[in-house]
Amino acid sequence: MSAISTPAQIHNLALICANSHDRRIMSDKDDSKKSSIVVLISGSGSNLQAIIDACQSEKIAADIAMVISNRPNVLGLQRAEQAGIPHSCIDHTQFASREAFDQALNERLETINPDMIVLAGFMRILTPSFVTNFHGKMVNIHPSLLPKYPGLNTHQRAIDDGERQAGVTVHFVTAELDGGPAIIQAAVDIEDNDDAKSLAAKVLIEEHTIYPRVISWFIDGRLSLTNGKVMLDNEILPPHGFHSFKDASQPNADQHAPNEH
Ligand code: GRF
Repeated sequence: MSAISTPAQIHNLALICANSHDRRIMSDKDDSKKSSIVVLISGSGSNLQAIIDACQSEKIAADIAMVISNRPNVLGLQRAEQAGIPHSCIDHTQFASREAFDQALNERLETINPDMIVLAGFMRILTPSFVTNFHGKMVNIHPSLLPKYPGLNTHQRAIDDGERQAGVTVHFVTAELDGGPAIIQAAVDIEDNDDAKSLAAKVLIEEHTIYPRVISWFIDGRLSLTNGKVMLDNEILPPHGFHSFKDASQPNADQHAPNEH
């Protein structure tokens, strides 16, 4: 075999080395690559904090690639900063239309290409074409027992209607506002002395438990939206999703998801 000496041979050898080096790096990266999620927020980000904590303690086997807020200077962005997570604001007031904002958000998300998009207190209605782009990988948390009380002021509306229970739903996002297939619900009792504030505080405690749980199911490949049905551990969940209610016949006993102990 002749020695490699001409500039062309050296160049070719360099390319071969670079390619095999890249391939090795890529395959190393693929083997060790953690799933990534993007969290969209609009405000205080208490759910974001629960997700950050669950990622840090490895209850969720993913990294938060970015936190994006549609409002500047919110507490949620400070939480991301404090945790060393990349964060940015796409201020919806700077866009002429809903479509223009969604397009900017879409471009940002496509650059990051996360495995999952988590809406956590994200107070924007998204356009159908945006939602379609991320079908089956975008989830939302809504503070009511859907299909009851979609939209705003859920706690006050539940109290005004004399409901005895309120709660929270995590669902896949579809074009219908707060209308996508439910993944999980958790309920709390409404006491006679509850007002919207106290009820919101009780519901938030449940939110912080169930949202990281849903994210870890999805990241672990246990949860999917398949042909419009929510599948958990290869079983179709009922229309209201997995129920994290206390079973009345077994006080303090949560119903476990299939395969969950
Ligand atoms: C939560 O109740 C969430 O369900 C709703 O907004 C509230 C604030 O959430 N969509 P956070 O503290 O910003 O996570």
